[in-house]
Amino acid sequence: MKHREIHKNIYWIGVNDRETYLFESLWPLPQGVAYNSYAITDKKVAIIDTVKGSYDSQFIEKLKELLNGRKPDYLIINHMEPDHSGSIKILIEIYPNITIVGNQKTIEFLNGFYGEFKNTLVVKEKDVLNLGEYELEFYLTPMVHWPETMMTYEKKTKTLFSGDAFGGFGTLDGGIFDDEVNTEFYEYETLRYYSNIVGKYAVMVNAAVSRLKDIEIKTICATHGPIYRKNPEKIINDYINWSNYKTERGVVIVYGSMYGNTKKMAEAISEGVKEAGIKDVIIHDISKSNLSYIIADIWKYNGVILGSCAYNQKIFPPMEHLLSFYENAKPKNHILGIFGSYSWSGGAVSRLKEFAKNIGWQVIEPEIEVKHAPKQQDLENCFKLGKELGARL
Ligand code: FEO
Repeated sequence: MKHREIHKNIYWIGVNDRETYLFESLWPLPQGVAYNSYAITDKKVAIIDTVKGSYDSQFIEKLKELLNGRKPDYLIINHMEPDHSGSIKILIEIYPNITIVGNQKTIEFLNGFYGEFKNTLVVKEKDVLNLGEYELEFYLTPMVHWPETMMTYEKKTKTLFSGDAFGGFGTLDGGIFDDEVNTEFYEYETLRYYSNIVGKYAVMVNAAVSRLKDIEIKTICATHGPIYRKNPEKIINDYINWSNYKTERGVVIVYGSMYGNTKKMAEAISEGVKEAGIKDVIIHDISKSNLSYIIADIWKYNGVILGSCAYNQKIFPPMEHLLSFYENAKPKNHILGIFGSYSWSGGAVSRLKEFAKNIGWQVIEPEIEVKHAPKQQDLENCFKLGKELGARL
C-alpha cells in the first residue's frame, strides 16, 4: 500500500506484516499486524515512530517516495519496542542529520538497543515542538506499556499519535481509517492486543487516558490497527472500560482434559450456566484454544470457571500457563468457579484454589473435585455450580 493522507501534509507510511506467525513470539497473528508510522511534511519534516526492522526497506521506499527529495528533520519516538524502533538505525544511516526526539527514558533505550546518537532532543511533559503550521505537544505516558512510552498530539488538527494505546492486531487491507474497514473485527483484535500485552498496566493506562480528557481528540493514530477519525470516542471509551476492569455479563469456561472426564464436567457446568439465563457462554479446551483468545474472552466477561485434570501430581501444564499469566496481570471484577478431576494423585484443584487466593476473585463454593470419572451425582453438582455462578452475575 502507498502512503495515505490523514490530514493536509500528515501521512500514514506504515507497513503490513503478513509473515510473522507469533507477535512477541507469543501471540498468534492469523490476520497479521500493521506497523503504523506517520510523517508530517510541514516547513519541518517529522516522522513519528518507524516499523519493525524486517520491513525497513519497504518503509524507507515509502518515505522517500513521499518526501520526494526532502530530508526529515525529526524522528519522534513514542515507543521503543522493536516492532516500532526496528528501522531507526537504517533511517539514521540514510539521514544522519535527523534529530531524534524522545524523553529521557527513550534515549536510554535508544542507546541500549541501537548505540549512541549525537542528535537527540529530550522532551518533557507538554513540551511543544513547532514544525511550521503544525505544533506537536508531548504527553509522557509511562508503562503504556513500557517505561518510555509517550504520546504526541498535533494541536491544530487535534490528532493524537498514541503509540500502542488504542492499537490492535490485524493488517490494514486497503482501508486504513475506521470508516473504511470492518470495525467489529478490529474491536476484538484491539481487545486481544490490550488484554494480552497492555492490560497488566491498566492503572497506568487509566491514568494516561484520564489525562487526555483535557484535550480534544479528533483523530487517533496508533502504532497498530486502523486510524480513528469517524468515531475516536468509541475506542477511547473501550479503553476507559478495559482499564477500569469493566466486564460484561457472560461466562468463560476453560478446561484441561486428557481423556474427557473434566470435559464432561465442563459441559454439565455450561448447562447450569444456561439455566441461569446467561446467553454469552464460551467454552475453551485449553489444549486447543490459543491462550491469547482465552485471555481476551476472560477480560471481557465477568464469569470464569476453570477446570483441570491433574498431571504428575500437579495441574495440567497448559492450565498452569494460563494461571501464571493471570497471576501476573491480575485483572479484577470476576467471579470464579473451580472444578477438576484426578486418577491417582490430585494436584489440579488445589492449584486452582491457590490461584483463587492469589488473584483475589470471589469464588463460588464448593469447588468440585472428582476421582476417576464423574458419576451422575458429580455431574449434577457441576450443573449446580454453573447455575449458582450464573445467578450471581
Ligand atoms: Fe507495538 Fe509495544 O509494541
